[in-house]
Amino acid sequence: MDVFKAIQWRRSVRRFSKQKIERKKVLQILESARLAPSSSNRQAWHFVVVDERSIIEQIPRTVPVGTRRIVTFIQNAPLVIAGCYTKALTHVIAQLTGHENHLIDVSIAMTQMVLAATELGIGTCWVGWYGESRLRRLLDLPRKYRIVALLVLGYPADKSSAESIGDIPVRPRKQLHEIVSYNKFGQRF
Ligand SMILES: Cc1cc2nc3c(=O)[nH]c(=O)nc-3n(C[C@H](O)[C@H](O)[C@H](O)COP(=O)(O)O)c2cc1C
Repeated sequence: MDVFKAIQWRRSVRRFSKQKIERKKVLQILESARLAPSSSNRQAWHFVVVDERSIIEQIPRTVPVGTRRIVTFIQNAPLVIAGCYTKALTHVIAQLTGHENHLIDVSIAMTQMVLAATELGIGTCWVGWYGESRLRRLLDLPRKYRIVALLVLGYPADKSSAESIGDIPVRPRKQLHEIVSYNKFGQRF
């Protein structure tokens, strides 16, 4: 699959089969994160791979009771990867300019994992809705790390089609002319 096809074929997958993800494929996905570019090549990231059922099942309980519906699907996923950064390694220039490059770095690495997983026929869903302090305790995460996002992974419950992984309909996207300017803001696409 070429990268553009993977980008088009990807969807957020929230219904997973019971099939476990093979260790070799998990390593391929993690390797895609390892090779990602990062600001000044600092690689100030850490990825916590969660494959224990008892831990995965508790992740939705880290958010307030009335909102758990948004993330209950995580319980049925075979794998969750928490993308983290360490503040100790954030660059002095980044601190001076206020650029949150560490967030960008982790996000790029996670995006590469998403595309690698897609290529392997594995569904993914980004999750930003988690309770940071409860999740930190659940994962025994050392203080110096902060969580950027979770990636939920698993083979889709539904058979993929030519159009999409898991045969999930495309969600609406803005048109290019709505999101792109040339040279100066407002110069239309
Ligand atoms: C940073 C980020 C956080 C997200 N958090 C959640 C989440 O907490 N729960 C969820 O079900 N989907 C979450 N999503 C998935 C989005 O809802 C999804 O990407 C969007 O609706 C577009 O659909 P698509 O991914 O199928 O193209 C998140 C996506 C991103 C990029």
